[in-house]
Amino acid sequence: MGQGVSLQGVVILGIESSCDDTSAAVIKDGVLLSNVTASQAVHESYGGVVPELASRAHQQNIVPVVNEALKRAGVEREELSAIAFTRGPGLMGSLLVGVSFAKGMAASLGIPMIDVNHLQGHVLAHFIKEEGKQGENPSFPFLCLLVSGGNSQIIKVNAYNDMEIVGQTIDDAAGEAIDKAAKVMGLGYPGGPIIDKLARKGNPLAFQFSKPHISGYDYSFSGLKTSFLYNLRDWMKDDPDFIQHHLEDLAASYEKAIVDTLMNKLRLAAKDLKIRQVAVAGGVSANTGLRNAFHEYAEKYHWKIFIPPFGYTTDNAAMIAQAGYFKYLDKDFCPMEAPAYSRVTMKN
Ligand code: KG4
Repeated sequence: MGQGVSLQGVVILGIESSCDDTSAAVIKDGVLLSNVTASQAVHESYGGVVPELASRAHQQNIVPVVNEALKRAGVEREELSAIAFTRGPGLMGSLLVGVSFAKGMAASLGIPMIDVNHLQGHVLAHFIKEEGKQGENPSFPFLCLLVSGGNSQIIKVNAYNDMEIVGQTIDDAAGEAIDKAAKVMGLGYPGGPIIDKLARKGNPLAFQFSKPHISGYDYSFSGLKTSFLYNLRDWMKDDPDFIQHHLEDLAASYEKAIVDTLMNKLRLAAKDLKIRQVAVAGGVSANTGLRNAFHEYAEKYHWKIFIPPFGYTTDNAAMIAQAGYFKYLDKDFCPMEAPAYSRVTMKN
């Protein structure tokens, strides 16, 4: 460590605003003190996130959310060592709210800023420590299946700040494919939790959808989504109420197709790279079918698996503060002029 940066009493405020959740969290010496999130119900009636409305809601939420996070942590602004913020990827208008807020606050307090890649934040959620809760962390290297509404990636994690993308979707993300199927069936948004609930009561072998054949460790979900749509159209010619009559079986079969695809590639990567520590992260990691599959694979292939608590599957600032804490220890700060970015690779 260089001069001027103490490792004792390190207090990091994390800010997340990449999509439709405004979140702030406080971590002291690596232990989470608070994590406050305001979700935006405004998008539900539109069947998806409306970027313009998301930025506006972030502007309304950011001040109260940060104040509440500091209050719950029992921390004064003057005690903060640095502010970590999501710099990207995400919706530009949403990111700008968190990035600009972090800059203003860091400048007024005269403390450093730490930029965090949102995807790396999801992976590092596995290292969040809560007071009084004991959990084992993955050791390096491990594989992480990152599955959300915008990403589906297999990541090799070599160290806190050293990650490589082994495979990724070449078109839609898994969460996007689930949400679109839910929309086609007239279910609400986001469709993931609804499909999950319905799938628990359905037969996963009732219907078959064409599965993608992509070489290597990459994914593709757009063909599966189209196959679902075209099959539904055909079946509805004979029975206009086909969806209502088979809702649970459709959800279970479609979920199975997605989970099987995700797990097959993950298993291939784990086998080839000879890695048996395997984690899952991102919004879709809340899915019951995927969680069950992780347990089955753990038993069958002797994996040691890491599944995040539900609260850390979707977007949250605790993971941003955690990633920021690791960067703070490396004195890896970012300049005041750092802009937000909407698209990235793991390298950013
Ligand atoms: O990581 P996330 O909160 O947001 C980003 O995309 O950044 O992920 C949201 C995605 C949505 O597609 C949502 O439908 C999906 O995660 N999701 C689920 C479940 N809960 C959330 N998908 C399947 N089963 C769930 N239980």
